[in-house]
Amino acid sequence: MIAIPIAASTKHDALRDLERAEKMADCIEIRLDLLPREAWVPLLRRKRKPSIVALRPERQGGSFQGEEISRTHLLEEALGYDPDFIDVEWDTPPHLIGSLLRKKGASTRVIVSYHNFAETPHDLRTILKKMASWDGNILKVVTLANDFVDNVRILRLLEGRAEKTIAFCMGSFGLPSRILTLRAGGYLTFGALEEGKESAPGQIPARDLKGIYRAHQIHRGTRVFGVIGNPVSHSVSPNIHNAAFAAVGYDAVYVPFQVRDFGNLIHDLASIGVEGFSVTIPHKERIIPVLGNVDEKSRRMGAVNTVYRQSGEWFGTNTDVYGAWKALQAACRDLQEKRWTILGAGGVARAIAAGAEMYGQPKSLTVLGRTRKRLDHFLADFRKISSCPIGGVVIGEADFGKILEETDILVNGTPVGMVPEVDENLIPSDLLRPRHLVFDTIYNPMETRLLREARKQGCRTVSGFQMFLHQGAAQFERWTGKNAPLALMEQTARGCLQGEETDN
Ligand SMILES: NC(=O)c1ccc[n+]([C@@H]2O[C@H](COP(=O)([O-])OP(=O)(O)OC[C@H]3O[C@@H](n4cnc5c(N)ncnc54)[C@H](OP(=O)(O)O)[C@@H]3O)[C@@H](O)[C@H]2O)c1
Repeated sequence: MIAIPIAASTKHDALRDLERAEKMADCIEIRLDLLPREAWVPLLRRKRKPSIVALRPERQGGSFQGEEISRTHLLEEALGYDPDFIDVEWDTPPHLIGSLLRKKGASTRVIVSYHNFAETPHDLRTILKKMASWDGNILKVVTLANDFVDNVRILRLLEGRAEKTIAFCMGSFGLPSRILTLRAGGYLTFGALEEGKESAPGQIPARDLKGIYRAHQIHRGTRVFGVIGNPVSHSVSPNIHNAAFAAVGYDAVYVPFQVRDFGNLIHDLASIGVEGFSVTIPHKERIIPVLGNVDEKSRRMGAVNTVYRQSGEWFGTNTDVYGAWKALQAACRDLQEKRWTILGAGGVARAIAAGAEMYGQPKSLTVLGRTRKRLDHFLADFRKISSCPIGGVVIGEADFGKILEETDILVNGTPVGMVPEVDENLIPSDLLRPRHLVFDTIYNPMETRLLREARKQGCRTVSGFQMFLHQGAAQFERWTGKNAPLALMEQTARGCLQGEETDN
């Protein structure tokens, strides 16, 4: 079930929002503490969708500031309209809970709720046990996630529970639990009516919960995939993979996992049913020692962007090399004997350097990194896999004029120029010449400042967009064993990225 909270500053806005929410929601939460008094009765009278009534006090993250006794009286008044659910905070004084229970009609069910806006405490089961001692029909535990692992703890709380329970995490780290709670047996999840109408941190629009993640169709058998990164909120991968799953009739969901500390990452992901995931910035190198099996090429290049599980074991591989090759090939058939310059010494730069040999024997490679330490690490790893002449230059000490004179293909493998810093560019554009092929691996925006300026200088340009599509399609095929619906993935990604550009 998807519930949409109604919170507005005028009666008119509240009624308008309610009408819109009823079209999307299975259930409406009437947040009395976030509504003007004159809106209460019209909202409580309306019975088009099941309703939850809450008058949240400040200590539980709400806006109600009065005494508990007056809060109880106001809730009793609301009970006169026979809502389907009434939400009562677990720390409400027992005699007031008793009074509310006596006043409610037979059709009103009680949600006993616990909110924690600071953390996901370790003693969740003890808290749940205490809450169960109240005479409630449904228990609700909502906590703040401070890292990915908090999602795991809250979802595992639902394991084996016969009682109806609502459980998920708030905050940007908590997004996976908002989506996966229904798969884990949670009674409902909340979605905002739209951006800006969130009643709690990290609440995503109900339109995205249904449209992108199909949260209302998720069940225990739905397979789980996702992307680990930090941050991940700008990733378009959930849009393209979820659209592709739906198009080929594959019962799966792809979720963004914001991960800061690895901890027991692989075990934790498996414990919530994850079968495969993409790896993005900044975890492509870090993931390797965590995996049991990494194919030889990816291990030697030192970067994994795709992880899958087979017979209980985790495997890592890299589809960036293939994606970049498809993108470059479409722009230039002859990649033989070129002089490559790569900006960045991270995961993507490693994939491009390792792939350069696959694309066509490079004449030379120059890598520009921010720090000597990471650069030296990169060069040492590359020399293990290739005899191609390679040199490393620290960006701050680089003579770009000389470097570009000796470059045929220039690749940006740094996030410089990516949203939101779209006006950034590491390369002085007056040094670019029409003979340069310029490839920016960034796909958001689809044309970076580097590419725009390179195009104006008469260079051939390649956007990271095609690389993104092809690496994603290869991941999809690896996970599902089905052909990726590439045209649909492209259309979906273009829709998201162009929409974002218009929004900006
Ligand atoms: N099109 C695609 O399919 C695709 C796929 C993956 C990634 N990408 C793009 O590639 C970019 C890098 O991803 P990644 O996974 O390789 O990340 P990563 O492993 O974190 O590497 C990023 C590299 O860029 C350097 N860097 C970061 N900020 C910089 C700055 N302000 N100036 C100079 N260098 C800077 C980093 O330097 P330090 O070592 O000093 O941190 C590091 O060497 C992403 O932002 C993304 O846009 C595209």
